[in-house]
Amino acid sequence: MQRRKIIIDTDPGQDDAAAIMLAFASPEELEVLGLSAVAGNVPLSYTSRNVRIVCELCGRPDAPVYEGAQKPTVRPPVTAEHVHGRTGLDGAELPEPTMPVRDQHAVDFIIETLRSEPAGTVTLCTLGPLTNVALALQKAPDIAGRVKELVMMGGGFFEGGNITPAAEFNIFVDPEAAKTVFSSGMPIVMMPLDVTHQLLTTKARVEKIAALGTRPAQVLVDWLAFFERFDVEKYGSDGGPLHDPTVIAYLLKPELFSGRDCNVEIETQSELTVGMTVVDWWRVSGREPNAKVMRDVDADGFFALLTERVARL
Ligand code: RIB
Ligand code: CA
Repeated sequence: MQRRKIIIDTDPGQDDAAAIMLAFASPEELEVLGLSAVAGNVPLSYTSRNVRIVCELCGRPDAPVYEGAQKPTVRPPVTAEHVHGRTGLDGAELPEPTMPVRDQHAVDFIIETLRSEPAGTVTLCTLGPLTNVALALQKAPDIAGRVKELVMMGGGFFEGGNITPAAEFNIFVDPEAAKTVFSSGMPIVMMPLDVTHQLLTTKARVEKIAALGTRPAQVLVDWLAFFERFDVEKYGSDGGPLHDPTVIAYLLKPELFSGRDCNVEIETQSELTVGMTVVDWWRVSGREPNAKVMRDVDADGFFALLTERVARL
């Protein structure tokens, strides 16, 4: 089976960590060409540190890690320590990473990789704000035609937003970047809150991960316990939505998800709704579809995949 070449652009974040673990636990299907850190949940200094902590936890100190944007393309930074903690990976005590960050800037890594690999063979997996990808597109517009697919966690439509009533965090942090990406013409698969809010880290599901009895599993359980507390309080639910692993799960088992091709536009002007993803689900605008927008997911199948793969680490 042909391994799928991927770049993971990420702002760990405990849910980003779960996504990276899922990717590294699936070496038969996925070849991680590199991971690029972006400012998002916490500043770049922490997201860069956190990517490497997760790589070392997964036994991959060799993984190429790059640092990208320290701030959004035009707006001041917005972070989410209230969800992820001061470090972004609060909940589990792990040693500081010893693996290096590569010298090359993440934006140049993305451009160089897309230009050197055969066109249509590299998938971009974005788990945070789209700043790095937008900067790469601005610097090298030709890469839009070389991406196999951009699979991104972000946005929301019938589910609304999570950082404002209208906007999801990854889009809200850098709406101009999102606008650049969604108008680039590259093939996009969108994993919005409408999907991730169906994926709650319920007690029963987390107990199955804990029952694996391995160190990576226990660390993930500890991270999830910290990560979910904000959303459990906010939504009054059994567990919190697990966002970012949907991107990797889609690559491994796309049949877990269903959606449709839609036009998606990004609000960048309105103070009230900036960062909103305007998804034309019912095709009333006449605007051309520019993304495959997911809406439904087999939640039990998703957690079974995550648990089975984490057991391999
Ligand atoms: O809104 C959820 C997204 O914002 C996730 O990617 C989470 O890690 C945060 O980055
Ligand atoms: Ca994230």
